[in-house]
Amino acid sequence: MRRIGGVVRPPGDKSISHRVLMLAALARGTSELSGLLTGDDVKSSARVLRQLGADVSSINDKRVAVHASRFSHPASRLNCGNSGTTARLILGILAGQKFAATLTGDASLRRRPMRRVTEPLRTMGAQITEKGDGLPLTIKGGKLRGLNYQSPVASAQVKSALLFAGLTGRVPVTIREPYRSRDHTERLFAHLGLAIHDRGGAISYQPSAVSIPGFEVAVPGDVSSAAFLAAAAVLAEGGELTIENVGVNPTRIGFFVVLERMGAHVDRVNLRDEGGEPVADLIVRPAQLAGTEVTAAEIPTLVDEVPVLAVLASRARGTTVFREVGELRVKESNRLELVAANLRAIGTQAEARGNDLHVEGSYARPRGRVETASDHRLAMAFAVLGTLPGADIRLSEKKSVAISYPDFFRDLKRCFA
Ligand code: S3P
Repeated sequence: MRRIGGVVRPPGDKSISHRVLMLAALARGTSELSGLLTGDDVKSSARVLRQLGADVSSINDKRVAVHASRFSHPASRLNCGNSGTTARLILGILAGQKFAATLTGDASLRRRPMRRVTEPLRTMGAQITEKGDGLPLTIKGGKLRGLNYQSPVASAQVKSALLFAGLTGRVPVTIREPYRSRDHTERLFAHLGLAIHDRGGAISYQPSAVSIPGFEVAVPGDVSSAAFLAAAAVLAEGGELTIENVGVNPTRIGFFVVLERMGAHVDRVNLRDEGGEPVADLIVRPAQLAGTEVTAAEIPTLVDEVPVLAVLASRARGTTVFREVGELRVKESNRLELVAANLRAIGTQAEARGNDLHVEGSYARPRGRVETASDHRLAMAFAVLGTLPGADIRLSEKKSVAISYPDFFRDLKRCFA
């Protein structure tokens, strides 16, 4: 019998790690950050901030010191690696700086859309030279004007880039989005004493003359990484798994909301606050799942968890439909097509119909080769399926987990030890 057990701690939250590094680099004086994710994406943010003049000590999960200094023209191109969050948030920061900088990234990032950020930044007054809708591109910031913006996409990266532009350009910014996206930037702004308000879903930042003082913050564990461990626990045949120190921000926990609707039960204990973010320990047990419909409004709260939720749906009774997941086409890979194709490759029925994803549950043993396209979340989602008794899942590669969860395979193994 495949029993789950023990206690695991997911790595630091990726979204929050990027944001605290960037805010520390913009603060006055020295900041101390603990619990940072040590994944490659966060290292990309640290590298780019160093190129701009910030003094960031080597990335570790214990204590990272950031000594801020005035940003200056970088000597070379800013390579954002695989990290969309680095590229988009740094664009916002650069919009308020008086020098030009060129951003680029790996082949996956260079294919990802940037106009969603460059268009509103241009409206604010930034000069941007771009060839198509992607990297590389050059931005020259400077004197900005305020912005009142209705974003066509529910994207925390767009929202955060514009808030960062308001911060560095010292102008007011108001943003509305079709559905509420993760609010880590808003929470950090408030935690650091900046003037940020939510009026009926319109997020407004008002600049002030005071600068951000150096700060100390502990980053909670990443709920998106915890989701893979929770999924393995739900699919096990006995036991229970404790996942400690997980960020349970309401704009991020859609995976757990849907998991409970599908029939699992997750206990939340030791609820506490860490730097303006709610944190808890989670206890997850095996469960029989039933298919469900995931609504368009829920998608932003679980946008990175669709692959692992689709994998669980492939083991649930009946059909699961994910509504309006077209955004998955422009993630680290075309996740919409690849999730469906990989589920079919291992013997289940799944397909993208327009912008919806349909998955049929099955109790057959999953067997076959999975193409991850070097996408960390595809690798981890299908590795979870590989823990089922009798499963034979061959991943095209495993190294991509270093982006967001470097110790994923070790932790997954420990849960079954
Ligand atoms: C992120 C926002 C989401 C998410 C990404 C991280 C962030 O992207 O998919 O992994 O840190 O703001 P979008 O803003 O493009 O939805």
